[in-house]
Amino acid sequence: MSAKQNPAGFTPELTLGVRELDEQHETLFRMLDRIDTVSPDMYRQLDDDETDAMLDIMNDLKDAALQHFGYEENLMDETDYPGLDDQQDAHERFIDDLIRLEAELMNGTSVPPVKLHAFLADWFADHVRELDRPFAEFRNKSAI
Ligand SMILES: [Fe+2]
Ligand SMILES: [Fe+2]
Repeated sequence: MSAKQNPAGFTPELTLGVRELDEQHETLFRMLDRIDTVSPDMYRQLDDDETDAMLDIMNDLKDAALQHFGYEENLMDETDYPGLDDQQDAHERFIDDLIRLEAELMNGTSVPPVKLHAFLADWFADHVRELDRPFAEFRNKSAI
């Protein structure tokens, strides 16, 4: 068992109390940990094989993110959540970012993996705190 703690990982303060969303968020964070395994030196540019491994991770991440965003947006729609449009915009921008990062990996202009991991983990954490949490509070309130 790995005792490695990722400081930018899924932390209890990101738990929203909506079980499915919490599970999906944790899964997304765990996927980011795979980035740490592609290269022995996270601070340098990736070679060709490492780039392929990173592109696989990005592709899996995009699939999982799309699935999660769809699930979350459905839940918001069902509860007539007024913040749905903002969420959809943020989700779309994130997928656009992932596509841009993939293109940068393919043309050799990508930042090193340590920065990719930090960017993605920061995005998820900020998004959960600033946009998903208000929805969870709205949903839990309307369920009373
Ligand atoms: Fe979201
Ligand atoms: Fe979310």
